[in-house]
Amino acid sequence: MRRAYLDNNATTPVLPEVLAAMQPFFLEEFGNASSIHHHGQHTRAAVERARENVAELLGARSSEIVFTSGGTEADNLALFGLAQSGDHVITSTIEHHAVLNACKRLEQIGCGVSYVPADRQGIVDPDEVRRALRPNTKLISIMAANNETGVVQRIAEIGRIAAEADVYFHTDAVQAAGKIPIHVAEWKCDLLSISGHKIHAPQGIGALYVRKGTLLQPLFYGGRHERSRRAGTENVPGIVGLGKAAEIALNGFSDGSVARTAELRDRIETFATETIEWIGVNSGGALRVPNTTNIYFECVEGEAMVIALDLKGVAVSTGAACSSGAIEPSHVLTAMGLSGDRARASIRFSLGKQNTNEEVDLLLEILPEVVNRLRELSPVYNKKTVVSG
Ligand SMILES: Cc1ncc(COP(=O)(O)O)c(C=O)c1O
Repeated sequence: MRRAYLDNNATTPVLPEVLAAMQPFFLEEFGNASSIHHHGQHTRAAVERARENVAELLGARSSEIVFTSGGTEADNLALFGLAQSGDHVITSTIEHHAVLNACKRLEQIGCGVSYVPADRQGIVDPDEVRRALRPNTKLISIMAANNETGVVQRIAEIGRIAAEADVYFHTDAVQAAGKIPIHVAEWKCDLLSISGHKIHAPQGIGALYVRKGTLLQPLFYGGRHERSRRAGTENVPGIVGLGKAAEIALNGFSDGSVARTAELRDRIETFATETIEWIGVNSGGALRVPNTTNIYFECVEGEAMVIALDLKGVAVSTGAACSSGAIEPSHVLTAMGLSGDRARASIRFSLGKQNTNEEVDLLLEILPEVVNRLRELSPVYNKKTVVSG
């Protein structure tokens, strides 16, 4: 069966080069990076090389990179590492749950949190961030690129506002890394999260950039790993994989692979909007990362469409979450002011480095028929066709 995996914002496949770089660290290079003997020295050197690669991707110094178990831990380390009871934190309504639910917890422990809205295109207005500042604001956490819509925020402007107010600035760049150039100095951020499995490294590895001089309260207590910023024996194979993936991600801006991903994404959007009626691109008017498109198909139930496409070999997703048995529409799309119906009818297509034109062909071959079939089951659609026909 032909298959196309177009859900790369959920996770990406590990690239063969990444796996090859990791493989020795499961076998002959098994040492603990803290050991002083030969085995430890080898793995320590590999960890430090990986740290340099990650730092290069972000325009940071290698001493400013802390390896974590992923994006969620990096976000939590940034937020809980800085904010304490009595502090005020500014974030947005469209953040990933790794930030939103961490902020809910901060509220429970006595922090004030302001949730700045996004507009209809999914853009957070930096002026709204400025207006939310209070004398006790400790931290601003606004994502660089949204996982559902791909919208790129005005991060450098928000960074400038934070710097002027002498407030720490964290950005969740999990969905920005490898898709748009990142430069922590230009973005004026003190903290920045990335995740390995969104850039073709394995699941369970990530990193937090921590600007020199930023004192973080650790999440874990244990050994003095990662300069006492993250206790626990390093995940050496994962770190090596992240380092290799970071190197490949950086090369992607000059070797044409990021541009190719954008072409595939644009093919999907152009075809869909030209051949299928009553659809539209959510955040189509905003600056977006090149690999993501979020399309609503009126009178189609998103979950049903995900299943119908999957049966034909194409993997995509909705931003919907299943909570207590009911399907909740995406909190991102509803926060942008889209109706529950439109949010439920929205599908995210997200591309990765491994995707080919042939895989996009498969999607485009089956998409109109799948949409038509689902619409035939919709009483609302039938009424619409009668009225407009
Ligand atoms: C924007 C964003 N932040 C954080 C995360 C969490 O990263 P991880 O899966 O590595 O914990 C994700 C994962 O979907 C994400 O998209």
